[in-house]
Amino acid sequence: MKLCDLNFAHSDLAVELHDNAFDEIWSAKAFLDLIELPATFGFLCSVDDQPAGFILCQGDGEEAEIITIATHGEFRRQGVAQALLDKAFERTEVMFLEVAEDNLAARRLYEKNGFQTVGIRKKYYKRSSDTFIDALVLRKEKNKLLI
Ligand SMILES: CC(C)(COP(=O)(O)OP(=O)(O)OC[C@H]1O[C@@H](n2cnc3c(N)ncnc32)[C@H](O)[C@@H]1OP(=O)(O)O)[C@@H](O)C(=O)NCCC(=O)NCCS
Repeated sequence: MKLCDLNFAHSDLAVELHDNAFDEIWSAKAFLDLIELPATFGFLCSVDDQPAGFILCQGDGEEAEIITIATHGEFRRQGVAQALLDKAFERTEVMFLEVAEDNLAARRLYEKNGFQTVGIRKKYYKRSSDTFIDALVLRKEKNKLLI
């Protein structure tokens, strides 16, 4: 497994990985608009030279937010997201994120890493024309002991 910094050259890869992982379609422009911001940072994870997942964050050495994290379906449960999270935490002390209440895989990942719920955003994600799902706002301080 290899990790490298995400940059402009990764826009197509990031879009492919995102589209594989989420229903909502992303564009290369959306990625490029984000990656050009000075506060944006992210990492690409490859397994056997295949793009396996990526994380995109915004913030600084004190506080950052995960904008998105995705592992391609073929590479799940192999520690890709864990490696990406660990790498992102090298760049900040406190991390925030939003996760859909019904996203049990992601919630388990964050719970395992000691994230705690600090807020709820009601009906934040759309699932169908008349179904909306709450977002949980999670927070974790680096190196805080897991209980
Ligand atoms: C959530 C997601 C990023 C996890 O990626 P992954 O690379 O498969 O995760 P890892 O292999 O690093 O798993 C680390 C831990 O997370 C938890 N976890 C991950 N996937 C899980 C699942 N499907 N069910 C239960 N727990 C899960 C487990 O505790 C796992 O440790 P273990 O395998 O030792 O039990 C991936 O499922 C994904 O891309 N989902 C779609 C996009 C998404 O929902 N992103 C998050 C938005 S907030």
